[in-house]
Amino acid sequence: MAGKTTAARPSVVDRVWRWIDERLGLEDLTYPVPAHANNVLYTLGGITAFGVVALIVTGIYLTQFYHGDPTQARESIEYIITTARLGDFVRNLHFWMANLVTITLLLHALRVFVTGSYRAPRELNWIVGVGLLSVMVGLLFTGTVLKWDQEGWEALQHNEEVGELLGGVGVWFTAEFTTSTPLLERLFIAHVAILPLLLVGLMAVHFYLVKHHGMSSVPGHEEQRARELTDTEAAMRSEGYVPFTSHLLHVAGWGLLLTAAGSFLALVVAAPLGDVIEPGEEKTKPPWIFLPLYPFEDWIGIRALLWLPIAALVGMAAVPFIDRFGSSSLRRRWALIAAALVIIAALVALGIYALTSTPAEHIPGMEGE
Ligand code: HEM
Repeated sequence: MAGKTTAARPSVVDRVWRWIDERLGLEDLTYPVPAHANNVLYTLGGITAFGVVALIVTGIYLTQFYHGDPTQARESIEYIITTARLGDFVRNLHFWMANLVTITLLLHALRVFVTGSYRAPRELNWIVGVGLLSVMVGLLFTGTVLKWDQEGWEALQHNEEVGELLGGVGVWFTAEFTTSTPLLERLFIAHVAILPLLLVGLMAVHFYLVKHHGMSSVPGHEEQRARELTDTEAAMRSEGYVPFTSHLLHVAGWGLLLTAAGSFLALVVAAPLGDVIEPGEEKTKPPWIFLPLYPFEDWIGIRALLWLPIAALVGMAAVPFIDRFGSSSLRRRWALIAAALVIIAALVALGIYALTSTPAEHIPGMEGE
């Protein structure tokens, strides 16, 4: 017997892992990504995706109780708050996660902009990102209407006005499109099916392109790369790499922290449900993301709500083609970054101005009612 060695038997965990891996190929997820991928600034997209999952889960629960008929919508929200099991908490969590995810989404887009990661070959992924931003804004807008309080009702009137401005195709946004289903019900379908499907579809394309091009290098770094290397390969050569699974763990950690913050807020601050609808009145202000547009409605009228967002999205989509600085270096791109900072400061100033101004009536036919 002496001298006979036996190989250690694999533990149960090892055997379970191997069983799963052989079937799902999880080992493939350990491919290398640059070490800076675990810097929180490069994790914001993943955190946003984590938050989107939390929004889908809480949204599915709320859909069990919500009623899209205008005569019953508000009552169903009150039912969620007072009677549905955990309804109040889930509604609050859905509201707070929507706000937190909007913040991480904007910070992610800002990081990509500042680091010049929209530059070749990632221009089209930037445009997919602009699509994701538009869908997210659509979800925030339709979500506001669904509350079916005074704010929701006024938002719906704006929806109709903008639809009319659009002419032919715009009829889909108005009650005229069909008499069989109320517009609120159709916006509910947009909120729980059309827009989430678009969001998930665009996210799939976005992730495919991130995988295809690799994570961008830190700004200015691509200048040192050899001709035959991509910026991602050069970054891994100079700074080292981590397995993608380590990046996923970072994303999950931050995502759980975000959900914990959302849960805390959900426990201490209730999601708003404003006054019962008084048709013909216009006295509320929109959620924070729409506030910078609000003064323009005063100055230019309803058409500002159509043309300014379109101009902003087209302007954003054009960024990769405007940038002719030949490097992602912040020093070389200082003029572009300064211009963006001025625009952001102006948006914040407009938002604060909107918040402090007295609500005005914009919808035609409301004046004097
Ligand atoms: C639901 C919304 C979004 C999700 C879930 C998402 C997710 C991600 C993820 C996971 C990455 C990998 C790198 C990182 O996490 O920073 C990424 C990269 C990228 N995203 Fe997004 N994103 C979203 C919206 C946007 C928006 C609004 C833009 C810009 C307008 C954008 C542009 C880009 C670009 C160009 C990259 C490649 C950057 C690089 O390689 O450094 N994304 N996104």
